Amino acid sequence: MKCAIILAGGKGTRMKSAAPKVMCEVLFQPMLHYVIRAVKEAGCEKICVVTGYKHEIVEAYLDEEIETAYQNPQLGTGHAVMMAKDFVEKHKKDEILILNGDGPMMNAETINQVYEYHMANQNSITLTSALVEDTNGIGHIKRDENGTLLRIVEHKDATEEEKLINESNAGMYWFNGEDLLYALANITNNNAQNEYYLTDSLEILINQGKNAGAYICENSEVILGANDRVQLNGLNTIMRRNINTAHMINGVDIPSTDGVMIGMDVKIGKETTILPNTIILGNTVIGERCTIGPNTYIKDGIVGNDVVLDNVKLTDSEIEDGTDCGPFVQVRAGSKLCKGVHIGNFVEVKNSTVGEGTKSAHLTYIGDSDVGKNVNFGCGTVTVNYDGKNKNRCKIGDNAFLGCNTNLIAPVEVGDFAFTAAGSTITDSVPDNALAIARARQVNKEDWVTEKKPYKNMK
Ligand code: UD1
Ligand code: CA
Repeated sequence: MKCAIILAGGKGTRMKSAAPKVMCEVLFQPMLHYVIRAVKEAGCEKICVVTGYKHEIVEAYLDEEIETAYQNPQLGTGHAVMMAKDFVEKHKKDEILILNGDGPMMNAETINQVYEYHMANQNSITLTSALVEDTNGIGHIKRDENGTLLRIVEHKDATEEEKLINESNAGMYWFNGEDLLYALANITNNNAQNEYYLTDSLEILINQGKNAGAYICENSEVILGANDRVQLNGLNTIMRRNINTAHMINGVDIPSTDGVMIGMDVKIGKETTILPNTIILGNTVIGERCTIGPNTYIKDGIVGNDVVLDNVKLTDSEIEDGTDCGPFVQVRAGSKLCKGVHIGNFVEVKNSTVGEGTKSAHLTYIGDSDVGKNVNFGCGTVTVNYDGKNKNRCKIGDNAFLGCNTNLIAPVEVGDFAFTAAGSTITDSVPDNALAIARARQVNKEDWVTEKKPYKNMK
Protein backbone atom coordinates (compact mmCIF):
# COMPACT_ATOMS: atom_id res chain seq x y z
CA MET A 1 0.00 0.00 0.00
CA LYS A 2 1.11 3.54 -0.69
CA CYS A 3 0.67 6.11 2.04
CA ALA A 4 1.72 9.71 2.50
CA ILE A 5 2.73 12.27 5.09
CA ILE A 6 2.22 15.91 4.16
CA LEU A 7 4.14 18.55 6.11
CA ALA A 8 1.95 21.52 6.92
CA GLY A 9 3.10 22.70 10.33
CA GLY A 10 5.18 25.72 9.40
CA LYS A 11 4.06 29.30 9.92
CA GLY A 12 5.46 30.78 6.75
CA THR A 13 6.49 34.08 8.27
CA ARG A 14 7.26 35.72 4.93
CA MET A 15 3.68 35.26 3.68
CA LYS A 16 2.58 37.72 6.41
CA SER A 17 -0.62 35.71 6.60
CA ALA A 18 -2.83 35.08 9.64
CA ALA A 19 -3.21 31.48 8.45
CA PRO A 20 -0.47 28.85 8.02
CA LYS A 21 1.47 29.09 4.78
CA VAL A 22 -0.07 25.95 3.26
CA MET A 23 -3.47 27.70 3.36
CA CYS A 24 -2.24 30.53 1.12
CA GLU A 25 -3.97 30.20 -2.22
CA VAL A 26 -3.07 29.50 -5.82
CA LEU A 27 -5.98 29.90 -8.23
CA PHE A 28 -8.27 30.42 -5.24
CA GLN A 29 -7.45 27.12 -3.54
CA PRO A 30 -5.02 26.57 -0.65
CA MET A 31 -1.65 25.19 -1.72
CA LEU A 32 -2.43 22.20 0.49
CA HIS A 33 -5.44 21.40 -1.73
CA TYR A 34 -3.21 20.64 -4.70
CA VAL A 35 -0.81 18.53 -2.66
CA ILE A 36 -3.64 16.39 -1.27
CA ARG A 37 -5.19 16.11 -4.72
CA ALA A 38 -1.92 14.90 -6.25
CA VAL A 39 -1.29 12.44 -3.43
CA LYS A 40 -4.77 10.93 -3.74
CA GLU A 41 -4.54 10.75 -7.51
CA ALA A 42 -1.19 8.98 -7.14
CA GLY A 43 -3.00 6.23 -5.24
CA CYS A 44 -1.98 6.90 -1.64
CA GLU A 45 -4.70 5.29 0.43
CA LYS A 46 -3.74 6.63 3.85
CA ILE A 47 -2.74 10.25 4.35
CA CYS A 48 -1.43 11.98 7.46
CA VAL A 49 -1.04 15.76 7.56
CA VAL A 50 1.35 17.22 10.13
CA THR A 51 -0.14 20.43 11.49
CA GLY A 52 1.44 22.95 13.82
CA TYR A 53 1.04 26.70 13.55
CA LYS A 54 -2.71 27.55 13.72
CA HIS A 55 -3.40 23.82 13.42
CA GLU A 56 -7.14 24.31 13.90
CA ILE A 57 -7.38 26.13 10.55
CA VAL A 58 -5.75 23.24 8.71
CA GLU A 59 -7.73 20.62 10.64
CA ALA A 60 -11.01 22.35 9.82
CA TYR A 61 -10.06 22.31 6.16
CA LEU A 62 -9.22 18.61 5.93
CA ASP A 63 -11.67 15.85 5.02
CA GLU A 64 -12.45 13.37 7.76
CA GLU A 65 -10.57 10.46 6.23
CA ILE A 66 -7.27 12.33 6.53
CA GLU A 67 -5.32 11.71 9.72
CA THR A 68 -3.38 14.46 11.46
CA ALA A 69 -0.39 14.70 13.77
CA TYR A 70 0.29 17.83 15.78
CA GLN A 71 3.75 19.39 15.95
CA ASN A 72 4.34 21.99 18.62
CA PRO A 73 6.80 23.70 18.64
CA GLN A 74 7.90 23.49 15.02
CA LEU A 75 11.50 22.35 15.06
CA GLY A 76 12.00 21.48 11.41
CA THR A 77 10.83 19.05 8.74
CA GLY A 78 12.51 16.03 10.39
CA HIS A 79 10.86 16.90 13.69
CA ALA A 80 7.52 17.22 11.88
CA VAL A 81 7.79 13.63 10.63
CA MET A 82 8.82 12.47 14.13
CA MET A 83 5.45 13.79 15.33
CA ALA A 84 3.79 11.43 12.85
CA LYS A 85 5.69 8.47 14.29
CA ASP A 86 2.52 6.52 15.10
CA PHE A 87 1.50 6.75 11.46
CA VAL A 88 4.95 5.62 10.33
CA GLU A 89 4.87 2.69 12.79
CA LYS A 90 1.49 1.62 11.45
CA HIS A 91 2.82 1.67 7.90
CA LYS A 92 6.39 0.51 8.44
CA LYS A 93 5.84 -2.38 6.02
CA ASP A 94 4.75 0.08 3.31
CA GLU A 95 6.42 2.65 1.13
CA ILE A 96 5.80 6.11 2.56
CA LEU A 97 5.68 9.31 0.55
CA ILE A 98 6.65 12.48 2.40
CA LEU A 99 6.12 15.85 0.84
CA ASN A 100 5.99 19.53 1.65
CA GLY A 101 2.54 21.06 1.86
CA ASP A 102 3.80 24.25 0.20
CA GLY A 103 4.57 22.69 -3.18
CA PRO A 104 1.28 22.90 -5.12
CA MET A 105 2.84 22.22 -8.52
CA MET A 106 3.67 18.61 -7.68
CA ASN A 107 1.51 16.15 -9.61
CA ALA A 108 0.48 12.50 -9.44
CA GLU A 109 2.41 11.61 -12.56
CA THR A 110 5.71 12.75 -11.05
CA ILE A 111 4.95 11.14 -7.69
CA ASN A 112 4.43 7.83 -9.47
CA GLN A 113 7.49 8.18 -11.68
CA VAL A 114 9.58 8.65 -8.54
CA TYR A 115 7.79 5.67 -6.96
CA GLU A 116 8.62 3.41 -9.93
CA TYR A 117 12.24 4.51 -9.75
CA HIS A 118 12.28 3.95 -5.98
CA MET A 119 10.89 0.42 -6.29
CA ALA A 120 13.00 -0.56 -9.31
CA ASN A 121 16.18 0.33 -7.40
CA GLN A 122 14.97 -1.11 -4.07
CA ASN A 123 15.84 2.20 -2.46
CA SER A 124 15.48 3.06 1.20
CA ILE A 125 15.05 6.69 0.24
CA THR A 126 14.41 8.31 -3.11
CA LEU A 127 14.59 12.06 -3.43
CA THR A 128 13.12 14.18 -6.15
CA SER A 129 15.20 16.94 -7.65
CA ALA A 130 15.45 19.35 -10.56
CA LEU A 131 18.06 21.68 -11.96
CA VAL A 132 17.08 25.25 -11.16
CA GLU A 133 18.29 28.74 -11.99
CA ASP A 134 17.44 30.41 -8.70
CA THR A 135 19.27 28.51 -5.98
CA ASN A 136 18.37 30.89 -3.17
CA GLY A 137 16.98 29.05 -0.14
CA ILE A 138 17.04 25.58 -1.69
CA GLY A 139 18.41 22.31 -0.36
CA HIS A 140 21.47 21.63 -2.55
CA ILE A 141 21.97 17.99 -3.56
CA LYS A 142 25.60 17.13 -3.06
CA ARG A 143 27.16 14.33 -5.12
CA ASP A 144 30.75 13.08 -5.42
CA GLU A 145 32.81 13.38 -8.59
CA ASN A 146 31.13 10.22 -9.95
CA GLY A 147 27.68 11.65 -9.39
CA THR A 148 26.96 9.38 -6.41
CA LEU A 149 24.68 10.98 -3.82
CA LEU A 150 26.34 12.21 -0.64
CA ARG A 151 23.92 14.44 1.23
CA ILE A 152 21.62 17.46 1.07
CA VAL A 153 23.01 20.78 2.22
CA GLU A 154 20.48 23.45 3.16
CA HIS A 155 21.25 26.85 1.67
CA LYS A 156 21.77 28.40 5.12
CA ASP A 157 24.38 25.77 5.97
CA ALA A 158 26.09 25.73 2.59
CA THR A 159 29.60 26.95 1.85
CA GLU A 160 30.03 29.41 -1.03
CA GLU A 161 31.08 26.49 -3.22
CA GLU A 162 28.05 24.37 -2.23
CA LYS A 163 25.75 27.31 -2.96
CA LEU A 164 26.71 26.95 -6.63
CA ILE A 165 25.16 23.46 -6.82
CA ASN A 166 21.98 23.95 -8.84
CA GLU A 167 20.39 20.53 -8.28
CA SER A 168 17.55 21.39 -5.91
CA ASN A 169 15.75 19.10 -3.49
CA ALA A 170 12.03 19.15 -4.31
CA GLY A 171 10.84 18.27 -0.81
CA MET A 172 9.14 15.07 -2.07
CA TYR A 173 10.57 11.71 -1.00
CA TRP A 174 9.67 8.04 -1.06
CA PHE A 175 10.90 6.12 1.97
CA ASN A 176 10.84 2.52 2.95
CA GLY A 177 8.86 2.53 6.20
CA GLU A 178 11.38 0.66 8.37
CA ASP A 179 14.27 2.73 7.07
CA LEU A 180 12.36 5.94 7.71
CA LEU A 181 11.95 4.91 11.35
CA TYR A 182 15.68 4.34 11.60
CA ALA A 183 16.48 7.71 10.05
CA LEU A 184 14.05 9.57 12.32
CA ALA A 185 15.73 8.13 15.38
CA ASN A 186 19.08 9.49 14.22
CA ILE A 187 18.37 13.02 12.95
CA THR A 188 19.99 15.73 15.10
CA ASN A 189 19.64 19.52 15.10
CA ASN A 190 23.30 20.30 14.72
CA ASN A 191 23.06 22.96 11.99
CA ALA A 192 22.70 26.67 11.24
CA GLN A 193 19.00 26.75 12.13
CA ASN A 194 19.11 24.28 15.04
CA GLU A 195 16.38 22.37 13.28
CA TYR A 196 15.81 18.68 12.74
CA TYR A 197 16.15 18.38 8.97
CA LEU A 198 14.32 15.55 7.23
CA THR A 199 16.92 15.95 4.52
CA ASP A 200 19.59 14.49 6.84
CA SER A 201 17.88 11.11 6.36
CA LEU A 202 19.75 10.75 3.10
CA GLU A 203 23.22 10.75 4.66
CA ILE A 204 22.03 8.67 7.62
CA LEU A 205 20.71 5.90 5.37
CA ILE A 206 23.68 6.03 3.00
CA ASN A 207 25.95 5.56 6.03
CA GLN A 208 23.94 2.43 6.87
CA GLY A 209 24.81 1.06 3.44
CA LYS A 210 21.25 1.49 2.18
CA ASN A 211 20.30 2.24 -1.40
CA ALA A 212 19.49 5.88 -2.05
CA GLY A 213 18.57 7.62 -5.26
CA ALA A 214 17.42 10.92 -6.67
CA TYR A 215 14.91 11.17 -9.48
CA ILE A 216 15.67 14.27 -11.54
CA CYS A 217 12.54 15.93 -12.96
CA GLU A 218 12.99 17.34 -16.43
CA ASN A 219 10.28 19.90 -15.84
CA SER A 220 11.57 21.98 -12.94
CA GLU A 221 8.17 23.68 -12.58
CA VAL A 222 6.74 20.76 -10.61
CA ILE A 223 9.12 21.31 -7.72
CA LEU A 224 8.29 24.98 -7.25
CA GLY A 225 6.92 26.15 -3.93
CA ALA A 226 6.08 29.53 -2.47
CA ASN A 227 7.55 31.15 0.61
CA ASP A 228 6.19 34.67 0.00
CA ARG A 229 3.41 36.40 -1.95
CA VAL A 230 5.65 37.21 -4.88
CA GLN A 231 6.39 33.52 -5.35
CA LEU A 232 2.68 32.81 -4.86
CA ASN A 233 1.92 35.15 -7.74
CA GLY A 234 4.54 33.30 -9.78
CA LEU A 235 2.81 29.98 -9.10
CA ASN A 236 -0.56 31.49 -10.09
CA THR A 237 0.95 32.62 -13.38
CA ILE A 238 2.43 29.24 -14.19
CA MET A 239 -0.59 27.19 -13.15
CA ARG A 240 -2.97 29.54 -14.96
CA ARG A 241 -0.92 29.34 -18.14
CA ASN A 242 -0.73 25.54 -17.99
CA ILE A 243 -4.49 25.15 -17.46
CA ASN A 244 -5.42 27.67 -20.16
CA THR A 245 -3.04 25.95 -22.58
CA ALA A 246 -4.57 22.53 -21.89
CA HIS A 247 -8.06 23.89 -22.62
CA MET A 248 -6.91 25.52 -25.86
CA ILE A 249 -5.37 22.23 -26.97
CA ASN A 250 -8.74 20.59 -26.22
CA GLY A 251 -10.47 23.02 -28.58
CA VAL A 252 -11.52 25.83 -26.23
CA ASP A 253 -11.08 29.25 -27.80
CA ILE A 254 -9.34 31.83 -25.61
CA PRO A 255 -8.56 34.77 -27.90
CA SER A 256 -6.88 36.64 -25.06
CA THR A 257 -5.88 35.04 -21.77
CA ASP A 258 -5.98 38.43 -20.00
CA GLY A 259 -7.66 37.90 -16.67
CA VAL A 260 -8.74 34.37 -17.58
CA MET A 261 -8.33 32.18 -14.50
CA ILE A 262 -9.66 28.65 -14.71
CA GLY A 263 -9.50 26.23 -11.78
CA MET A 264 -7.84 22.86 -12.11
CA ASP A 265 -11.04 20.78 -11.91
CA VAL A 266 -13.10 22.80 -14.41
CA LYS A 267 -14.26 21.04 -17.60
CA ILE A 268 -15.02 22.97 -20.79
CA GLY A 269 -16.31 21.60 -24.10
CA LYS A 270 -14.77 22.29 -27.46
CA GLU A 271 -15.58 25.36 -29.53
CA THR A 272 -16.55 27.26 -26.41
CA THR A 273 -15.04 30.74 -26.27
CA ILE A 274 -13.74 32.24 -23.03
CA LEU A 275 -13.43 36.02 -23.14
CA PRO A 276 -11.18 38.24 -20.97
CA ASN A 277 -11.59 38.73 -17.21
CA THR A 278 -13.40 35.48 -16.72
CA ILE A 279 -12.86 33.36 -13.61
CA ILE A 280 -14.19 29.81 -13.63
CA LEU A 281 -13.78 27.76 -10.47
CA GLY A 282 -14.72 24.71 -8.46
CA ASN A 283 -16.35 21.75 -10.16
CA THR A 284 -17.79 23.80 -12.98
CA VAL A 285 -18.67 21.95 -16.17
CA ILE A 286 -19.33 23.95 -19.36
CA GLY A 287 -20.59 22.44 -22.63
CA GLU A 288 -19.70 23.09 -26.24
CA ARG A 289 -20.08 26.22 -28.40
CA CYS A 290 -20.76 28.53 -25.45
CA THR A 291 -19.52 32.11 -25.16
CA ILE A 292 -18.45 32.85 -21.60
CA GLY A 293 -17.41 36.37 -20.68
CA PRO A 294 -16.17 38.98 -20.78
CA ASN A 295 -16.13 39.69 -17.03
CA THR A 296 -17.84 36.53 -15.92
CA TYR A 297 -17.40 34.61 -12.67
CA ILE A 298 -18.60 31.03 -12.36
CA LYS A 299 -18.17 28.80 -9.34
CA ASP A 300 -19.59 25.28 -9.25
CA GLY A 301 -21.82 25.87 -12.27
CA ILE A 302 -23.24 23.31 -14.68
CA VAL A 303 -23.62 24.96 -18.07
CA GLY A 304 -25.02 23.18 -21.15
CA ASN A 305 -24.22 23.69 -24.83
CA ASP A 306 -24.68 26.92 -26.82
CA VAL A 307 -25.04 29.08 -23.71
CA VAL A 308 -24.06 32.76 -23.65
CA LEU A 309 -22.98 34.31 -20.35
CA ASP A 310 -21.99 37.93 -20.78
CA ASN A 311 -20.92 39.76 -17.59
CA VAL A 312 -22.53 37.17 -15.35
CA LYS A 313 -21.86 36.02 -11.82
CA LEU A 314 -23.04 32.44 -11.42
CA THR A 315 -22.67 30.27 -8.35
CA ASP A 316 -23.78 26.73 -7.60
CA SER A 317 -26.46 26.70 -10.31
CA GLU A 318 -27.38 24.94 -13.53
CA ILE A 319 -27.99 26.43 -16.95
CA GLU A 320 -29.41 24.33 -19.78
CA ASP A 321 -28.69 24.42 -23.50
CA GLY A 322 -29.28 27.55 -25.53
CA THR A 323 -29.88 29.91 -22.62
CA ASP A 324 -28.40 33.38 -22.63
CA CYS A 325 -27.74 35.68 -19.70
CA GLY A 326 -26.46 39.17 -19.48
CA PRO A 327 -25.05 41.62 -19.50
CA PHE A 328 -24.92 42.23 -15.72
CA VAL A 329 -26.78 39.24 -14.38
CA GLN A 330 -26.38 37.34 -11.15
CA VAL A 331 -27.51 33.74 -10.81
CA ARG A 332 -27.21 32.71 -7.17
CA ALA A 333 -27.05 29.31 -5.52
CA GLY A 334 -29.72 26.72 -6.11
CA SER A 335 -31.01 28.04 -9.41
CA LYS A 336 -31.82 26.21 -12.60
CA LEU A 337 -32.42 27.99 -15.88
CA CYS A 338 -33.99 25.54 -18.33
CA LYS A 339 -33.49 25.40 -22.09
CA GLY A 340 -33.70 28.57 -24.10
CA VAL A 341 -34.25 30.94 -21.20
CA HIS A 342 -33.34 34.57 -21.79
CA ILE A 343 -32.16 36.65 -18.84
CA GLY A 344 -31.26 40.22 -19.69
CA ASN A 345 -29.52 43.12 -17.97
CA PHE A 346 -29.76 43.71 -14.23
CA VAL A 347 -31.67 40.58 -13.36
CA GLU A 348 -30.95 38.48 -10.28
CA VAL A 349 -32.12 34.89 -9.94
CA LYS A 350 -31.77 33.11 -6.61
CA ASN A 351 -32.77 29.60 -5.55
CA SER A 352 -35.34 29.42 -8.35
CA THR A 353 -36.24 27.25 -11.29
CA VAL A 354 -37.00 29.09 -14.49
CA GLY A 355 -38.84 26.98 -17.11
CA GLU A 356 -38.00 26.52 -20.77
CA GLY A 357 -38.24 29.55 -23.00
CA THR A 358 -39.05 32.00 -20.20
CA LYS A 359 -37.87 35.55 -20.70
CA SER A 360 -36.85 38.16 -18.17
CA ALA A 361 -35.24 40.87 -20.19
CA HIS A 362 -34.50 43.57 -17.64
CA LEU A 363 -34.37 44.77 -14.04
CA THR A 364 -36.03 41.87 -12.26
CA TYR A 365 -35.56 39.83 -9.09
CA ILE A 366 -36.60 36.19 -9.19
CA GLY A 367 -35.99 34.72 -5.72
CA ASP A 368 -37.23 31.46 -4.19
CA SER A 369 -39.59 30.88 -7.11
CA ASP A 370 -40.79 28.11 -9.37
CA VAL A 371 -41.38 29.63 -12.76
CA GLY A 372 -43.05 27.72 -15.60
CA LYS A 373 -42.37 27.67 -19.33
CA ASN A 374 -42.62 30.65 -21.71
CA VAL A 375 -43.33 33.12 -18.96
CA ASN A 376 -42.72 36.77 -19.73
CA PHE A 377 -41.40 38.95 -16.92
CA GLY A 378 -42.07 42.63 -17.49
CA CYS A 379 -39.32 45.06 -16.62
CA GLY A 380 -38.98 45.65 -12.90
CA THR A 381 -40.86 42.58 -11.69
CA VAL A 382 -40.00 41.57 -8.14
CA THR A 383 -40.75 38.38 -6.29
CA VAL A 384 -41.14 39.67 -2.75
CA ASN A 385 -39.80 36.56 -1.07
CA TYR A 386 -38.83 37.94 2.33
CA ASP A 387 -41.21 39.40 4.89
CA GLY A 388 -38.56 40.34 7.42
CA LYS A 389 -38.74 36.97 9.16
CA ASN A 390 -39.34 34.21 6.65
CA LYS A 391 -38.52 33.40 3.06
CA ASN A 392 -41.53 32.28 1.02
CA ARG A 393 -41.88 30.92 -2.50
CA CYS A 394 -43.77 32.16 -5.55
CA LYS A 395 -45.14 29.85 -8.20
CA ILE A 396 -45.74 31.14 -11.70
CA GLY A 397 -47.56 28.94 -14.24
CA ASP A 398 -46.67 28.25 -17.87
CA ASN A 399 -47.21 31.09 -20.38
CA ALA A 400 -48.02 33.66 -17.69
CA PHE A 401 -47.43 37.33 -18.50
CA LEU A 402 -46.28 39.56 -15.65
CA GLY A 403 -46.74 43.24 -16.42
CA CYS A 404 -43.94 45.72 -15.73
CA ASN A 405 -43.35 46.48 -12.08
CA THR A 406 -45.39 43.59 -10.77
CA ASN A 407 -44.68 42.74 -7.14
CA LEU A 408 -45.51 39.15 -6.22
CA ILE A 409 -45.90 39.00 -2.45
CA ALA A 410 -44.85 35.46 -1.53
CA PRO A 411 -46.26 32.97 -0.92
CA VAL A 412 -48.43 33.47 -3.97
CA GLU A 413 -49.32 31.62 -7.18
CA VAL A 414 -49.95 32.94 -10.65
CA GLY A 415 -51.79 30.44 -12.89
CA ASP A 416 -51.10 29.26 -16.43
CA PHE A 417 -51.71 31.92 -19.10
CA ALA A 418 -52.58 34.43 -16.34
CA PHE A 419 -51.84 38.14 -16.77
CA THR A 420 -50.93 40.76 -14.19
CA ALA A 421 -51.47 44.41 -14.98
CA ALA A 422 -48.37 46.61 -14.94
CA GLY A 423 -47.68 48.04 -11.50
CA SER A 424 -49.73 45.45 -9.64
CA THR A 425 -48.85 44.27 -6.17
CA ILE A 426 -50.17 40.72 -6.17
CA THR A 427 -51.04 39.39 -2.72
CA ASP A 428 -53.61 36.75 -3.70
CA SER A 429 -53.24 33.88 -6.10
CA VAL A 430 -54.26 34.52 -9.70
CA PRO A 431 -56.27 31.72 -11.38
CA ASP A 432 -55.34 30.28 -14.78
CA ASN A 433 -56.30 32.56 -17.69
CA ALA A 434 -57.25 35.49 -15.38
CA LEU A 435 -56.10 39.11 -15.48
CA ALA A 436 -55.16 40.48 -12.05
CA ILE A 437 -55.18 44.24 -11.55
CA ALA A 438 -53.98 45.28 -8.14
CA ARG A 439 -53.47 49.01 -8.15
CA ALA A 440 -55.61 52.13 -7.63
CA ARG A 441 -57.60 53.36 -10.60
CA GLN A 442 -56.14 56.48 -12.26
CA VAL A 443 -57.72 59.90 -11.52
CA ASN A 444 -56.98 62.93 -13.74
CA LYS A 445 -57.54 66.36 -12.11
CA GLU A 446 -58.18 68.78 -14.99
CA ASP A 447 -56.31 72.14 -14.86
CA TRP A 448 -54.76 71.29 -11.53
CA VAL A 449 -51.37 72.75 -12.61
CA THR A 450 -52.71 76.06 -13.91
CA GLU A 451 -54.66 76.56 -10.71
CA LYS A 452 -52.09 75.28 -8.18
CA LYS A 453 -48.95 76.67 -9.94
CA PRO A 454 -46.68 74.06 -8.36
CA TYR A 455 -43.57 74.97 -10.44
CA LYS A 456 -41.09 77.72 -9.55
CA ASN A 457 -41.35 81.01 -11.54
CA MET A 458 -44.93 80.28 -12.60
CA LYS A 459 -47.12 83.31 -13.07
C1 UD1 B 1 12.70 22.31 2.47
C2 UD1 B 1 13.90 21.36 2.39
C3 UD1 B 1 14.80 21.78 1.24
C4 UD1 B 1 13.99 21.79 -0.05
C5 UD1 B 1 12.74 22.66 0.09
C6 UD1 B 1 11.88 22.49 -1.14
C7 UD1 B 1 14.36 20.66 4.68
C8 UD1 B 1 15.25 20.80 5.84
N1 UD1 B 1 14.64 21.42 3.63
O1 UD1 B 1 13.21 23.59 2.75
O2 UD1 B 1 15.89 20.89 1.12
O3 UD1 B 1 14.81 22.26 -1.13
O4 UD1 B 1 11.98 22.28 1.23
O5 UD1 B 1 10.81 23.38 -1.10
O6 UD1 B 1 13.44 19.87 4.72
N2 UD1 B 1 7.20 22.25 8.12
C9 UD1 B 1 6.61 21.65 9.22
N3 UD1 B 1 7.23 21.77 10.43
C10 UD1 B 1 8.39 22.43 10.60
C11 UD1 B 1 8.99 23.02 9.46
C12 UD1 B 1 8.37 22.91 8.25
O7 UD1 B 1 5.55 21.03 9.11
O8 UD1 B 1 8.89 22.46 11.71
C13 UD1 B 1 6.52 22.15 6.82
C14 UD1 B 1 6.13 23.51 6.26
O9 UD1 B 1 4.81 23.84 6.63
C15 UD1 B 1 6.28 23.30 4.76
C16 UD1 B 1 7.32 22.19 4.63
O10 UD1 B 1 7.43 21.59 5.90
O11 UD1 B 1 5.07 22.87 4.16
C17 UD1 B 1 8.69 22.73 4.20
O12 UD1 B 1 9.12 23.67 5.15
P1 UD1 B 1 9.96 24.96 4.74
O13 UD1 B 1 10.34 25.65 5.99
O14 UD1 B 1 9.27 25.72 3.70
O15 UD1 B 1 11.27 24.24 4.14
P2 UD1 B 1 12.29 24.88 3.13
O16 UD1 B 1 13.16 25.82 3.84
O17 UD1 B 1 11.59 25.37 1.94
CA1 CA C 1 9.50 25.84 1.39
